[in-house]
Amino acid sequence: MSDFNTLSISRGRIPVTHGSLLQFPDDPIACMKMLRREHGDLAVLEQDGQRLVFVFSPELNHQVLSDTQVFHSRFFAVRGSRNSAQRRVTAGLLSQNGAEHRETRRLLKDVFSKRVLPDYHQTICHLTDDLLSRWSLGSVRDLNSDMVHFMLRMTSALLFGLDDAHFALQLGEMIDRWVHRNHEVGIGALVSGPQFNQKYEELLQMADELEASVQQMFNMHRSRNHDRPNILSLLFQAQGSEQQLTDEHLTGHATLLFAAAHLTTAHTFCWTLFLLAQHPAVCARLHEELNQHISGEVPTLQELEKVTYLDWVIRESMRVMPASAYSQRITAESAQLGSLRLPPGTPVVFSQYMTHHREDIYSEPHRFQPERWASIAPSAYEYLPFGAGPRMCIGAPLAMAEIRAALAMMLKNYHFQIQPNCVVNGQVISTMLSPTTTIPARLISPDEIPVTVSVNGSIHDLMTLPDAAQPAVERRAA
Ligand code: HEM
Repeated sequence: MSDFNTLSISRGRIPVTHGSLLQFPDDPIACMKMLRREHGDLAVLEQDGQRLVFVFSPELNHQVLSDTQVFHSRFFAVRGSRNSAQRRVTAGLLSQNGAEHRETRRLLKDVFSKRVLPDYHQTICHLTDDLLSRWSLGSVRDLNSDMVHFMLRMTSALLFGLDDAHFALQLGEMIDRWVHRNHEVGIGALVSGPQFNQKYEELLQMADELEASVQQMFNMHRSRNHDRPNILSLLFQAQGSEQQLTDEHLTGHATLLFAAAHLTTAHTFCWTLFLLAQHPAVCARLHEELNQHISGEVPTLQELEKVTYLDWVIRESMRVMPASAYSQRITAESAQLGSLRLPPGTPVVFSQYMTHHREDIYSEPHRFQPERWASIAPSAYEYLPFGAGPRMCIGAPLAMAEIRAALAMMLKNYHFQIQPNCVVNGQVISTMLSPTTTIPARLISPDEIPVTVSVNGSIHDLMTLPDAAQPAVERRAA
Protein backbone atom coordinates (compact mmCIF):
# COMPACT_ATOMS: atom_id res chain seq x y z
CA MET A 1 0.00 0.00 0.00
CA SER A 2 1.32 3.44 -0.85
CA ASP A 3 1.34 6.32 1.64
CA PHE A 4 0.49 8.77 -1.10
CA ASN A 5 -2.90 10.23 -1.88
CA THR A 6 -3.63 10.38 -5.55
CA LEU A 7 -5.15 13.48 -7.11
CA SER A 8 -6.19 13.14 -10.72
CA ILE A 9 -7.54 16.17 -12.50
CA SER A 10 -9.43 15.73 -15.75
CA ARG A 11 -8.53 17.82 -18.74
CA GLY A 12 -5.95 15.48 -20.02
CA ARG A 13 -5.78 14.03 -16.45
CA ILE A 14 -2.80 15.48 -14.62
CA PRO A 15 -1.01 12.47 -13.16
CA VAL A 16 -0.20 13.90 -9.74
CA THR A 17 0.45 12.07 -6.49
CA HIS A 18 0.56 14.30 -3.42
CA GLY A 19 3.04 13.12 -0.82
CA SER A 20 6.38 13.84 0.79
CA LEU A 21 9.09 14.51 -1.80
CA LEU A 22 11.54 12.88 0.60
CA GLN A 23 9.98 9.51 -0.13
CA PHE A 24 11.77 9.60 -3.47
CA PRO A 25 15.36 9.78 -2.13
CA ASP A 26 14.42 7.46 0.76
CA ASP A 27 13.57 4.62 -1.63
CA PRO A 28 13.69 5.76 -5.27
CA ILE A 29 12.73 2.42 -6.80
CA ALA A 30 9.72 1.78 -4.55
CA CYS A 31 8.57 5.36 -5.14
CA MET A 32 8.93 5.11 -8.94
CA LYS A 33 7.14 1.74 -9.03
CA MET A 34 4.25 3.22 -7.06
CA LEU A 35 4.05 6.27 -9.36
CA ARG A 36 4.09 4.13 -12.49
CA ARG A 37 1.43 1.82 -11.07
CA GLU A 38 -0.78 4.80 -10.30
CA HIS A 39 -0.20 6.94 -13.39
CA GLY A 40 1.57 5.04 -16.16
CA ASP A 41 4.48 6.45 -18.15
CA LEU A 42 4.36 10.06 -16.93
CA ALA A 43 3.88 10.96 -13.27
CA VAL A 44 4.24 13.87 -10.89
CA LEU A 45 5.07 13.78 -7.19
CA GLU A 46 4.01 16.99 -5.51
CA GLN A 47 4.45 18.51 -2.07
CA ASP A 48 3.45 22.07 -1.16
CA GLY A 49 3.44 23.15 -4.80
CA GLN A 50 6.89 21.68 -5.51
CA ARG A 51 6.88 19.04 -8.23
CA LEU A 52 9.12 16.22 -9.31
CA VAL A 53 8.23 14.83 -12.74
CA PHE A 54 8.97 11.22 -13.72
CA VAL A 55 9.16 9.65 -17.17
CA PHE A 56 9.13 5.87 -17.60
CA SER A 57 8.75 5.15 -21.35
CA PRO A 58 11.40 4.99 -24.11
CA GLU A 59 9.58 7.75 -26.03
CA LEU A 60 9.70 10.14 -23.09
CA ASN A 61 13.30 9.11 -22.30
CA HIS A 62 14.09 10.07 -25.89
CA GLN A 63 12.60 13.54 -25.53
CA VAL A 64 14.23 14.26 -22.16
CA LEU A 65 17.64 12.93 -23.12
CA SER A 66 17.92 14.31 -26.62
CA ASP A 67 16.50 17.82 -26.23
CA THR A 68 19.48 19.27 -24.37
CA GLN A 69 18.37 22.85 -24.98
CA VAL A 70 15.29 22.35 -22.80
CA PHE A 71 16.38 19.58 -20.45
CA HIS A 72 19.54 20.68 -18.69
CA SER A 73 21.76 18.59 -16.48
CA ARG A 74 22.12 19.78 -12.93
CA PHE A 75 23.67 16.84 -11.17
CA PHE A 76 25.01 18.96 -8.30
CA ALA A 77 22.12 21.02 -6.96
CA VAL A 78 24.44 22.98 -4.65
CA ARG A 79 27.19 24.83 -6.52
CA GLY A 80 28.48 27.05 -3.69
CA SER A 81 29.41 30.71 -4.09
CA ARG A 82 31.46 31.96 -7.07
CA ASN A 83 34.89 31.65 -5.45
CA SER A 84 34.26 28.56 -3.36
CA ALA A 85 35.98 25.18 -3.63
CA GLN A 86 32.47 23.68 -3.94
CA ARG A 87 31.96 25.72 -7.15
CA ARG A 88 35.26 24.48 -8.57
CA VAL A 89 34.93 20.79 -7.68
CA THR A 90 31.40 20.67 -9.11
CA ALA A 91 32.47 22.33 -12.37
CA GLY A 92 32.90 19.07 -14.36
CA LEU A 93 30.86 17.82 -17.31
CA LEU A 94 27.71 16.92 -15.39
CA SER A 95 27.24 20.57 -14.35
CA GLN A 96 27.76 21.93 -17.84
CA ASN A 97 25.19 22.60 -20.55
CA GLY A 98 24.98 24.09 -24.03
CA ALA A 99 28.16 25.26 -25.77
CA GLU A 100 30.30 24.81 -22.65
CA HIS A 101 29.26 21.14 -22.42
CA ARG A 102 29.89 20.51 -26.12
CA GLU A 103 33.34 22.11 -25.83
CA THR A 104 34.35 19.94 -22.86
CA ARG A 105 33.09 16.80 -24.59
CA ARG A 106 35.32 17.76 -27.52
CA LEU A 107 38.32 18.25 -25.22
CA LEU A 108 37.78 14.92 -23.46
CA LYS A 109 36.82 12.94 -26.56
CA ASP A 110 40.32 11.87 -27.50
CA VAL A 111 41.34 10.61 -24.07
CA PHE A 112 38.29 8.31 -23.96
CA SER A 113 38.16 7.25 -27.61
CA LYS A 114 38.17 3.57 -28.59
CA ARG A 115 41.51 4.24 -30.28
CA VAL A 116 43.36 4.68 -26.96
CA LEU A 117 41.69 1.76 -25.17
CA PRO A 118 44.39 -0.79 -26.09
CA ASP A 119 46.86 1.42 -24.18
CA TYR A 120 44.92 0.79 -20.95
CA HIS A 121 44.63 -2.99 -21.40
CA GLN A 122 47.97 -3.74 -19.78
CA THR A 123 47.11 -1.76 -16.63
CA ILE A 124 43.68 -3.44 -16.39
CA CYS A 125 45.24 -6.91 -16.64
CA HIS A 126 48.09 -6.07 -14.28
CA LEU A 127 45.76 -4.86 -11.51
CA THR A 128 43.39 -7.80 -12.01
CA ASP A 129 46.34 -10.15 -11.71
CA ASP A 130 47.31 -8.42 -8.49
CA LEU A 131 43.78 -8.91 -7.12
CA LEU A 132 43.85 -12.60 -8.07
CA SER A 133 47.19 -13.08 -6.33
CA ARG A 134 45.52 -12.01 -3.07
CA TRP A 135 42.63 -14.47 -3.44
CA SER A 136 42.91 -18.17 -2.61
CA LEU A 137 40.76 -21.23 -3.22
CA GLY A 138 38.38 -21.99 -0.36
CA SER A 139 38.51 -18.53 1.21
CA VAL A 140 35.32 -16.52 1.69
CA ARG A 141 35.43 -13.01 0.21
CA ASP A 142 33.03 -10.10 0.42
CA LEU A 143 32.39 -9.37 -3.26
CA ASN A 144 31.07 -5.90 -2.43
CA SER A 145 34.12 -4.52 -0.62
CA ASP A 146 36.56 -6.43 -2.85
CA MET A 147 35.10 -4.85 -5.98
CA VAL A 148 34.98 -1.35 -4.43
CA HIS A 149 38.65 -1.57 -3.44
CA PHE A 150 39.59 -3.11 -6.76
CA MET A 151 37.94 -0.25 -8.63
CA LEU A 152 39.43 2.41 -6.38
CA ARG A 153 42.87 1.17 -7.38
CA MET A 154 41.94 0.60 -11.02
CA THR A 155 40.33 4.03 -11.41
CA SER A 156 43.22 5.80 -9.68
CA ALA A 157 45.68 4.05 -11.97
CA LEU A 158 43.78 4.56 -15.23
CA LEU A 159 42.66 8.11 -14.59
CA PHE A 160 45.54 9.52 -12.58
CA GLY A 161 48.46 7.12 -12.98
CA LEU A 162 48.39 6.66 -9.20
CA ASP A 163 49.94 3.50 -7.86
CA ASP A 164 49.87 4.66 -4.24
CA ALA A 165 47.03 2.41 -3.03
CA HIS A 166 46.75 4.17 0.32
CA PHE A 167 46.41 7.64 -1.20
CA ALA A 168 43.98 6.30 -3.83
CA LEU A 169 41.82 4.82 -1.11
CA GLN A 170 41.79 8.05 0.89
CA LEU A 171 40.98 10.18 -2.14
CA GLY A 172 38.30 7.76 -3.34
CA GLU A 173 36.62 7.62 0.04
CA MET A 174 36.74 11.41 0.31
CA ILE A 175 35.05 11.75 -3.09
CA ASP A 176 32.39 9.19 -2.15
CA ARG A 177 31.53 10.98 1.11
CA TRP A 178 31.39 14.30 -0.71
CA VAL A 179 29.14 12.96 -3.52
CA HIS A 180 26.83 11.47 -0.93
CA ARG A 181 26.66 14.70 1.04
CA ASN A 182 25.90 16.63 -2.18
CA HIS A 183 22.99 14.34 -2.74
CA GLU A 184 21.63 14.86 0.78
CA VAL A 185 22.01 18.63 0.64
CA GLY A 186 20.59 18.67 -2.91
CA ILE A 187 17.40 17.13 -1.57
CA GLY A 188 17.40 19.92 1.01
CA ALA A 189 17.19 22.37 -1.89
CA LEU A 190 13.74 20.89 -2.53
CA VAL A 191 12.63 20.33 1.04
CA SER A 192 14.13 22.82 3.45
CA GLY A 193 14.78 22.03 7.11
CA PRO A 194 17.37 22.83 9.83
CA GLN A 195 19.11 19.48 9.36
CA PHE A 196 20.16 20.59 5.85
CA ASN A 197 21.83 23.83 7.06
CA GLN A 198 24.33 21.91 9.15
CA LYS A 199 24.95 19.49 6.27
CA TYR A 200 25.46 22.42 3.90
CA GLU A 201 28.25 23.84 6.09
CA GLU A 202 29.86 20.41 6.24
CA LEU A 203 29.58 20.05 2.47
CA LEU A 204 31.54 23.27 1.92
CA GLN A 205 34.22 22.09 4.34
CA MET A 206 34.43 18.73 2.55
CA ALA A 207 34.80 20.52 -0.80
CA ASP A 208 37.76 22.53 0.59
CA GLU A 209 39.50 19.35 1.71
CA LEU A 210 38.70 17.54 -1.52
CA GLU A 211 40.08 20.32 -3.67
CA ALA A 212 43.31 20.32 -1.65
CA SER A 213 43.65 16.55 -2.11
CA VAL A 214 43.02 16.70 -5.85
CA GLN A 215 45.69 19.39 -6.17
CA GLN A 216 48.09 17.31 -4.08
CA MET A 217 47.42 14.45 -6.49
CA PHE A 218 48.19 16.76 -9.47
CA ASN A 219 51.51 17.69 -7.83
CA MET A 220 52.38 14.05 -7.16
CA HIS A 221 51.50 13.21 -10.74
CA ARG A 222 53.71 15.97 -12.16
CA SER A 223 56.68 15.01 -9.97
CA ARG A 224 56.83 11.47 -11.37
CA ASN A 225 57.54 9.73 -14.65
CA HIS A 226 54.66 7.63 -15.86
CA ASP A 227 55.53 4.55 -17.82
CA ARG A 228 51.86 3.49 -18.13
CA PRO A 229 49.37 5.67 -20.04
CA ASN A 230 46.74 7.42 -17.95
CA ILE A 231 44.06 9.99 -18.62
CA LEU A 232 45.52 12.78 -16.50
CA SER A 233 48.83 12.65 -18.42
CA LEU A 234 46.87 13.11 -21.64
CA LEU A 235 44.93 16.02 -20.14
CA PHE A 236 48.13 17.68 -18.88
CA GLN A 237 49.55 17.32 -22.40
CA ALA A 238 46.40 18.89 -23.84
CA GLN A 239 46.88 21.90 -21.51
CA GLY A 240 49.62 23.04 -23.90
CA SER A 241 47.16 23.65 -26.72
CA GLU A 242 43.83 24.21 -24.94
CA GLN A 243 43.49 27.42 -22.96
CA GLN A 244 40.25 26.24 -21.33
CA LEU A 245 42.12 23.45 -19.55
CA THR A 246 43.53 25.32 -16.58
CA ASP A 247 44.31 23.42 -13.37
CA GLU A 248 41.13 24.91 -11.94
CA HIS A 249 39.08 23.34 -14.75
CA LEU A 250 40.96 20.09 -14.38
CA THR A 251 40.07 19.96 -10.67
CA GLY A 252 36.37 19.78 -11.59
CA HIS A 253 36.93 17.29 -14.41
CA ALA A 254 39.20 15.03 -12.36
CA THR A 255 36.78 14.97 -9.41
CA LEU A 256 33.78 14.20 -11.57
CA LEU A 257 35.58 11.56 -13.62
CA PHE A 258 36.68 9.73 -10.50
CA ALA A 259 33.24 9.99 -8.91
CA ALA A 260 31.46 8.84 -12.10
CA ALA A 261 33.87 6.00 -12.80
CA HIS A 262 34.69 3.93 -9.79
CA LEU A 263 31.50 2.99 -7.90
CA THR A 264 29.40 2.51 -11.04
CA THR A 265 31.97 0.02 -12.33
CA ALA A 266 32.50 -1.62 -8.90
CA HIS A 267 28.76 -2.22 -8.49
CA THR A 268 28.49 -3.61 -12.02
CA PHE A 269 31.25 -6.13 -11.20
CA CYS A 270 29.64 -7.03 -7.91
CA TRP A 271 26.13 -7.60 -9.31
CA THR A 272 27.50 -9.56 -12.28
CA LEU A 273 29.55 -11.92 -10.09
CA PHE A 274 26.58 -12.39 -7.76
CA LEU A 275 24.19 -13.12 -10.65
CA LEU A 276 26.61 -15.57 -12.26
CA ALA A 277 27.01 -17.40 -8.97
CA GLN A 278 23.23 -17.71 -8.61
CA HIS A 279 22.68 -18.89 -12.21
CA PRO A 280 24.73 -22.11 -12.63
CA ALA A 281 23.68 -22.80 -16.23
CA VAL A 282 24.87 -19.33 -17.29
CA CYS A 283 28.10 -19.80 -15.36
CA ALA A 284 28.70 -23.18 -17.02
CA ARG A 285 28.11 -21.82 -20.53
CA LEU A 286 30.40 -18.87 -19.90
CA HIS A 287 33.09 -21.18 -18.51
CA GLU A 288 32.97 -23.18 -21.74
CA GLU A 289 33.23 -20.05 -23.85
CA LEU A 290 36.18 -18.65 -21.90
CA ASN A 291 38.02 -21.98 -22.13
CA GLN A 292 37.40 -22.14 -25.84
CA HIS A 293 38.59 -18.63 -26.70
CA ILE A 294 41.05 -17.53 -24.02
CA SER A 295 44.20 -19.58 -23.94
CA GLY A 296 46.40 -18.03 -21.24
CA GLU A 297 45.89 -16.38 -17.86
CA VAL A 298 45.81 -12.92 -19.44
CA PRO A 299 43.37 -12.43 -22.33
CA THR A 300 44.57 -10.65 -25.44
CA LEU A 301 42.39 -7.97 -27.02
CA GLN A 302 41.88 -10.24 -30.04
CA GLU A 303 40.64 -13.06 -27.79
CA LEU A 304 38.25 -10.71 -26.00
CA GLU A 305 36.60 -9.87 -29.30
CA LYS A 306 35.41 -13.48 -29.59
CA VAL A 307 33.62 -13.86 -26.27
CA THR A 308 30.06 -13.02 -27.31
CA TYR A 309 28.40 -14.79 -24.41
CA LEU A 310 30.43 -12.76 -21.91
CA ASP A 311 29.04 -9.65 -23.60
CA TRP A 312 25.49 -10.94 -23.23
CA VAL A 313 26.12 -11.67 -19.55
CA ILE A 314 27.41 -8.14 -18.93
CA ARG A 315 24.61 -6.52 -20.94
CA GLU A 316 21.99 -8.54 -19.09
CA SER A 317 23.48 -7.80 -15.69
CA MET A 318 23.46 -4.07 -16.51
CA ARG A 319 19.87 -4.39 -17.67
CA VAL A 320 18.45 -6.12 -14.64
CA MET A 321 20.63 -4.40 -12.00
CA PRO A 322 21.83 -1.15 -13.65
CA ALA A 323 24.48 0.56 -11.53
CA SER A 324 22.99 3.90 -12.54
CA ALA A 325 19.34 3.45 -11.53
CA TYR A 326 18.08 6.90 -12.46
CA SER A 327 19.23 10.39 -13.29
CA GLN A 328 17.59 13.78 -13.64
CA ARG A 329 17.31 16.90 -15.73
CA ILE A 330 15.87 20.34 -15.04
CA THR A 331 13.87 22.36 -17.55
CA ALA A 332 15.73 25.49 -18.70
CA GLU A 333 12.59 26.88 -20.35
CA SER A 334 8.91 25.96 -20.39
CA ALA A 335 8.23 22.75 -22.27
CA GLN A 336 5.51 20.33 -23.27
CA LEU A 337 6.21 16.81 -22.01
CA GLY A 338 3.45 14.35 -22.92
CA SER A 339 0.25 15.80 -21.48
CA LEU A 340 2.13 18.14 -19.13
CA ARG A 341 3.14 21.74 -19.59
CA LEU A 342 6.28 22.23 -17.49
CA PRO A 343 7.47 25.64 -16.28
CA PRO A 344 11.22 26.41 -16.28
CA GLY A 345 13.04 24.94 -13.28
CA THR A 346 11.04 21.68 -13.15
CA PRO A 347 13.12 18.62 -12.19
CA VAL A 348 12.50 15.59 -14.44
CA VAL A 349 13.65 12.09 -13.50
CA PHE A 350 14.25 9.25 -15.98
CA SER A 351 15.18 5.77 -14.87
CA GLN A 352 17.27 2.99 -16.32
CA TYR A 353 15.89 0.56 -13.77
CA MET A 354 12.25 1.32 -14.61
CA THR A 355 12.84 1.21 -18.39
CA HIS A 356 14.82 -2.03 -18.22
CA HIS A 357 12.08 -3.73 -16.20
CA ARG A 358 9.23 -3.02 -18.65
CA GLU A 359 7.33 -6.11 -19.74
CA ASP A 360 6.48 -4.61 -23.13
CA ILE A 361 10.20 -4.43 -23.99
CA TYR A 362 11.66 -7.46 -22.20
CA SER A 363 9.87 -10.74 -21.53
CA GLU A 364 10.17 -11.81 -17.87
CA PRO A 365 11.97 -8.52 -17.26
CA HIS A 366 12.89 -9.20 -13.63
CA ARG A 367 14.88 -12.33 -14.50
CA PHE A 368 18.55 -12.56 -15.45
CA GLN A 369 18.52 -14.30 -18.87
CA PRO A 370 21.61 -13.51 -20.98
CA GLU A 371 20.28 -15.73 -23.79
CA ARG A 372 17.63 -13.11 -24.57
CA TRP A 373 20.37 -11.02 -26.24
CA ALA A 374 20.54 -13.55 -29.10
CA SER A 375 17.20 -12.27 -30.34
CA ILE A 376 16.67 -8.71 -29.09
CA ALA A 377 18.07 -5.37 -30.22
CA PRO A 378 16.51 -2.68 -28.02
CA SER A 379 16.78 0.96 -29.06
CA ALA A 380 19.11 3.41 -27.29
CA TYR A 381 16.18 4.66 -25.19
CA GLU A 382 14.93 1.17 -24.29
CA TYR A 383 18.33 -0.01 -23.04
CA LEU A 384 20.41 2.76 -21.50
CA PRO A 385 22.78 1.58 -18.73
CA PHE A 386 25.18 4.35 -19.80
CA GLY A 387 22.48 6.90 -20.56
CA ALA A 388 21.74 7.98 -24.14
CA GLY A 389 21.94 10.98 -26.43
CA PRO A 390 24.51 13.80 -26.30
CA ARG A 391 25.26 13.23 -22.62
CA MET A 392 25.77 9.50 -22.85
CA CYS A 393 28.53 8.26 -20.54
CA ILE A 394 31.85 9.36 -21.97
CA GLY A 395 33.64 6.56 -20.09
CA ALA A 396 31.42 3.72 -21.39
CA PRO A 397 34.05 2.20 -23.75
CA LEU A 398 36.65 2.31 -20.96
CA ALA A 399 34.23 0.79 -18.44
CA MET A 400 33.37 -2.02 -20.87
CA ALA A 401 37.06 -2.68 -21.55
CA GLU A 402 37.70 -2.99 -17.80
CA ILE A 403 34.68 -5.20 -17.16
CA ARG A 404 35.29 -7.59 -20.06
CA ALA A 405 38.99 -8.12 -19.42
CA ALA A 406 38.82 -8.31 -15.63
CA LEU A 407 35.76 -10.58 -15.54
CA ALA A 408 37.38 -12.94 -18.03
CA MET A 409 40.49 -13.14 -15.82
CA MET A 410 38.55 -13.60 -12.58
CA LEU A 411 36.38 -16.35 -14.08
CA LYS A 412 39.29 -18.19 -15.66
CA ASN A 413 40.72 -18.55 -12.14
CA TYR A 414 37.72 -18.84 -9.84
CA HIS A 415 34.03 -19.42 -9.55
CA PHE A 416 32.04 -17.94 -6.70
CA GLN A 417 29.77 -19.83 -4.33
CA ILE A 418 27.40 -17.46 -2.53
CA GLN A 419 27.05 -18.36 1.15
CA PRO A 420 23.60 -19.83 1.88
CA ASN A 421 21.08 -17.65 3.71
CA CYS A 422 23.18 -14.49 3.58
CA VAL A 423 21.41 -11.14 3.38
CA VAL A 424 21.81 -9.31 0.06
CA ASN A 425 20.45 -5.79 0.11
CA GLY A 426 20.49 -3.37 -2.78
CA GLN A 427 19.54 0.25 -2.44
CA VAL A 428 19.80 3.35 -4.58
CA ILE A 429 22.37 5.70 -3.08
CA SER A 430 23.11 8.96 -4.92
CA THR A 431 21.43 7.58 -8.08
CA MET A 432 23.47 4.34 -7.98
CA LEU A 433 21.96 0.90 -7.40
CA SER A 434 24.45 -0.20 -4.77
CA PRO A 435 24.88 -3.40 -2.80
CA THR A 436 24.56 -2.24 0.82
CA THR A 437 25.45 -5.48 2.58
CA THR A 438 28.43 -7.75 2.34
CA ILE A 439 28.03 -10.34 -0.41
CA PRO A 440 29.93 -13.33 0.96
CA ALA A 441 31.18 -15.81 -1.64
CA ARG A 442 33.54 -18.76 -1.28
CA LEU A 443 36.15 -19.01 -4.00
CA ILE A 444 35.89 -22.36 -5.75
CA SER A 445 37.76 -23.86 -8.67
CA PRO A 446 36.62 -22.66 -12.11
CA ASP A 447 35.99 -26.34 -12.94
CA GLU A 448 33.30 -26.44 -10.27
CA ILE A 449 29.93 -24.88 -11.02
CA PRO A 450 28.33 -23.03 -8.10
CA VAL A 451 24.85 -23.90 -6.90
CA THR A 452 21.97 -21.49 -6.42
CA VAL A 453 21.41 -20.87 -2.72
CA SER A 454 18.66 -19.20 -0.82
CA VAL A 455 19.44 -15.59 0.12
CA ASN A 456 17.45 -13.02 2.06
CA GLY A 457 17.21 -9.27 1.74
CA SER A 458 15.88 -6.52 -0.51
CA ILE A 459 17.41 -8.11 -3.64
CA HIS A 460 14.05 -9.90 -3.93
CA ASP A 461 12.28 -6.53 -4.34
CA LEU A 462 14.64 -5.62 -7.17
CA MET A 463 14.66 -8.77 -9.32
CA THR A 464 13.56 -12.40 -9.45
CA LEU A 465 16.22 -14.95 -8.51
CA PRO A 466 15.92 -18.65 -9.39
CA ASP A 467 14.82 -21.08 -6.70
CA ALA A 468 17.61 -22.43 -4.54
CA ALA A 469 18.92 -25.88 -5.34
CA GLN A 470 18.17 -28.52 -2.66
CA PRO A 471 20.29 -29.49 -0.84
CA ALA A 472 22.76 -26.60 -1.01
CA VAL A 473 25.93 -28.54 -1.72
CA GLU A 474 28.34 -28.11 -4.55
CA ARG A 475 28.29 -30.42 -7.50
CA ARG A 476 31.01 -31.06 -9.97
CA ALA A 477 30.62 -29.77 -13.49
CA ALA A 478 29.77 -32.58 -15.87
C1 HEM B 1 29.73 0.61 -15.44
C2 HEM B 1 30.22 1.82 -15.30
C3 HEM B 1 29.48 3.08 -15.62
C4 HEM B 1 28.14 3.34 -15.66
C5 HEM B 1 26.99 2.38 -15.39
C6 HEM B 1 27.99 4.73 -16.03
C7 HEM B 1 26.76 5.36 -16.22
C8 HEM B 1 26.62 6.65 -16.67
C9 HEM B 1 25.37 7.26 -17.01
C10 HEM B 1 24.00 6.58 -16.93
C11 HEM B 1 25.62 8.53 -17.42
C12 HEM B 1 24.61 9.54 -17.94
C13 HEM B 1 24.02 10.35 -16.80
C14 HEM B 1 22.95 11.30 -17.27
O1 HEM B 1 22.52 11.26 -18.43
O2 HEM B 1 22.52 12.09 -16.42
C15 HEM B 1 27.04 8.74 -17.29
C16 HEM B 1 27.68 9.93 -17.57
C17 HEM B 1 29.02 10.13 -17.38
N1 HEM B 1 29.96 9.18 -17.08
FE1 HEM B 1 29.60 7.22 -16.74
N2 HEM B 1 29.22 5.29 -16.16
C18 HEM B 1 30.17 4.33 -15.93
C19 HEM B 1 31.53 4.47 -16.00
C20 HEM B 1 32.18 5.64 -16.24
C21 HEM B 1 33.61 5.80 -16.34
C22 HEM B 1 34.60 4.65 -16.25
C23 HEM B 1 33.85 7.14 -16.52
C24 HEM B 1 35.15 7.88 -16.69
C25 HEM B 1 36.33 7.37 -16.59
C26 HEM B 1 32.57 7.82 -16.58
C27 HEM B 1 32.41 9.18 -16.76
C28 HEM B 1 31.18 9.78 -17.01
C29 HEM B 1 31.04 11.20 -17.28
C30 HEM B 1 32.14 12.24 -17.30
C31 HEM B 1 29.68 11.42 -17.51
C32 HEM B 1 29.00 12.75 -17.85
C33 HEM B 1 28.80 12.87 -19.35
C34 HEM B 1 28.11 14.18 -19.76
O3 HEM B 1 27.36 14.74 -18.97
O4 HEM B 1 28.36 14.59 -20.89
N3 HEM B 1 31.59 6.88 -16.40
N4 HEM B 1 27.63 7.57 -16.86
